Amino acid sequence: MLERFFSKEEIRRITRSIINLPTLPTVVAKMLEMLDNPKTSAAQLSRLISGDQVLTAKVLRLANSAFYAFPQPISTVNLAVVVLGFDVVKNLVIGISVIESFSKEADGYFDVMRFWEHSIGCGVAARMLARMYGYQVSGEAFTAGLLHDIGKLVMREHLKVEFLEVLGKVQQGKTFLEAEEELLGVTHAEIGNWLAERWNFPVVLQEAILCHHRPGEARKEPMLAAIVHFADVICKHAEVGFSGDHVKPPLDEAVYDVLSPKLTEEGEVDMGFYVSKLRDEMERAEGFVSTILGKELEPSRGGPLGGDRFPEAGVAQDSGKVD
Ligand SMILES: [Fe+2]
Ligand SMILES: [Fe+2]
Repeated sequence: MLERFFSKEEIRRITRSIINLPTLPTVVAKMLEMLDNPKTSAAQLSRLISGDQVLTAKVLRLANSAFYAFPQPISTVNLAVVVLGFDVVKNLVIGISVIESFSKEADGYFDVMRFWEHSIGCGVAARMLARMYGYQVSGEAFTAGLLHDIGKLVMREHLKVEFLEVLGKVQQGKTFLEAEEELLGVTHAEIGNWLAERWNFPVVLQEAILCHHRPGEARKEPMLAAIVHFADVICKHAEVGFSGDHVKPPLDEAVYDVLSPKLTEEGEVDMGFYVSKLRDEMERAEGFVSTILGKELEPSRGGPLGGDRFPEAGVAQDSGKVD
């Protein structure tokens, strides 16, 4: 570790000071507070989201995308909560808000849009694995996959010198993780976890971010950490987006204890199987990806909410009065 970099403790302090980001909507802060209360109802959640028109528009676009394959148009947040479920919508709002809290500006060093493609791919893969292996809260799996590498964006925006040095080492053939450990003694997994703690994300989400490279260390929800790790490995093998290095890592052995992956005749993980399943899922997720990244949404279905006929800001149907 070189002395000119911040120490682990300084990096922790910097990360924990990222609190009042103007772009983190107050609605999310309130929502995360509400989550501490087990009596919070779907109606209360709907009312809260409906108070933010931009967020409402985005939630409805996502709810109507082919990714969720719901046969009827979903015209109100309340209906989205009813048909997609409390957890799916809650986790979707966390994901949207975090994406909006970080710059998507290109800087010539790090392709942030491709980074988000990797992250969304990982969310999609995690949801797919959650369904395959019966992890009940698939919305949680999606968000954990989506946010697993968020520590890299904290570095990119707040620890620029360190980040560029890490990228330099990666170009010399190290993995991102190795470069971080060597140069800083702290990894994006820990940094992401500090941010998730600071922003009061659900504890299992914090743990999945912390343990996504070492799923065997998860204690609260080992299955979620295993799912996120597995999803990350699948995305790298499928070359979905770009996470910072080109290494295709093996699956951590801890995953075998929790998920029993499909094996080839030679007894290896059948990565081809998972990669092709993910590619199918990604095709269905196309409209979803463009919406979540804020790119123009291609009309993915007809009906009153399809394409350019969608009422961008007003969403007049949603009065916010839901019971
Ligand atoms: Fe990572
Ligand atoms: Fe990753």
